[in-house]
Amino acid sequence: MNVSVVILAAGQGTRMKSNLPKVLHEISGKPMLFHAIEVAQKISDDITIILFHEADMIKSKIKEIYSNINFHIQDAVNFPGTGGAMMGVSTKYEKTLILNGDMPLVTDEALHNLIGQKSDITMSVIKLVNPSGYGRVVIENEEVKHIVEQKDCNEEQLKINDVNAGVYCIKSELLKKYIPTLKNDNAQKEYYLTDIIEMAVNDNLHIKPIFVNEEEFKGVNSKLDLSHAEDIMQTRIRSHWMREGVIMRLPNTIYIDSRAIFEGECNIENGVSIIGNCHIKNSHIKAGSVIENSKITHSDIGPMARVRPDSDLIDTHIGNFVEIKKSTLNGVKAGHLSYIGDASVEAGTNIGAGTITCNYDGKAKHKTVIGKNVFIGSDSQLVAPVNIPDNVMIAAGTTVTKNPSSGDLVLSRTTQKSIANFFYKFFGTKK
Ligand code: UD1
Ligand code: MG
Repeated sequence: MNVSVVILAAGQGTRMKSNLPKVLHEISGKPMLFHAIEVAQKISDDITIILFHEADMIKSKIKEIYSNINFHIQDAVNFPGTGGAMMGVSTKYEKTLILNGDMPLVTDEALHNLIGQKSDITMSVIKLVNPSGYGRVVIENEEVKHIVEQKDCNEEQLKINDVNAGVYCIKSELLKKYIPTLKNDNAQKEYYLTDIIEMAVNDNLHIKPIFVNEEEFKGVNSKLDLSHAEDIMQTRIRSHWMREGVIMRLPNTIYIDSRAIFEGECNIENGVSIIGNCHIKNSHIKAGSVIENSKITHSDIGPMARVRPDSDLIDTHIGNFVEIKKSTLNGVKAGHLSYIGDASVEAGTNIGAGTITCNYDGKAKHKTVIGKNVFIGSDSQLVAPVNIPDNVMIAAGTTVTKNPSSGDLVLSRTTQKSIANFFYKFFGTKK
């Protein structure tokens, strides 16, 4: 399609009350701006992002993930405002679609509708019961005549409930013509992109309003807006995966990162959080479990288990209050109350309740390697680095500090003593 995309993201976002630039606040595990970039990439190969506030930091974060993006730094000191943002920007194609970096919910389907129109300028309009805060759109005979910012509205204009959603598709030649002529004679002393509408009307051009859905074109300006946008995005993500065959018990209680991938038949119980880049295949994640940046295949996890980043669990059972970190478990059972970190554990191994891999010596992390068919008794500590070969039995309560040999029983307990009738002596009770 012959359309370039410009994403406005130079604003500071003071209403977020945060040191983090507004567009880097996350929705479902991804900065808002990244959602806008991904939608733009579905539409065009000519994408320009306008930055100013924290430009270097935002730019380097974008470059870590996306390539083929152009950047333009706004002279926001001398030319503030959405019109100032467009000054000096040149785009490749016949039409330019202007998006906002703080609009993470917009979909490419909705944008295609805007791009597909024949008018000189097409703009998104939302009908709102409470239009407060937005620019009001004056529409006559199904054409836009004027956009008035709230701060410049008279009594009559304040009552208009058709508002500017802030997304436009404009013939690129018009931007080239109008942007350099913008003035800042308004209440905010800013250069308004919206002023080009009146210029186009004076040139007898056609400006078509496209009514869009508030849920998709919602701008995020505060942390309250952020939470509403998160809610909408989560509903979309969960609905998508349920349609793909994932079972969810009480979906509204489940959090799923936008980067998560499910395969086969998975069952996700209530209160589960799937954070970061997870790949979950044919597995059952039980109530209250937290999975982060990990791969889970043919396994059942929880209830109330925690799988921390870089874990790979295959054909494995993890029970309640078990924490796994940066470990590979293949064909393992760890039913209760354990910490397995920086470890690899092979098939047929049983990890008893209360087993701890002591992976940190106060300075560095060390590995625990456990082979096949190892039986680890309850309340054992494996002091890393340690290597337990296949077919080893570790007695309950053992602290393993040396590598055993295959076939060994490892035992480190003090011998049990019994003192007859001590109880009665101490408490003075007679038999
Ligand atoms: C803008 C519109 C308003 C519309 C509203 C919809 C103008 C003059 N007004 O107002 O009609 O109802 O969006 O949300 O355009 N930005 C820059 N550089 C700047 C200022 C802003 O890049 O100097 C970027 C921001 O980062 C943001 C977008 O432009 O992504 C919109 O800016 P914002 O300040 O939110 O505009 P509004 O005042 O809400
Ligand atoms: Mg805004």
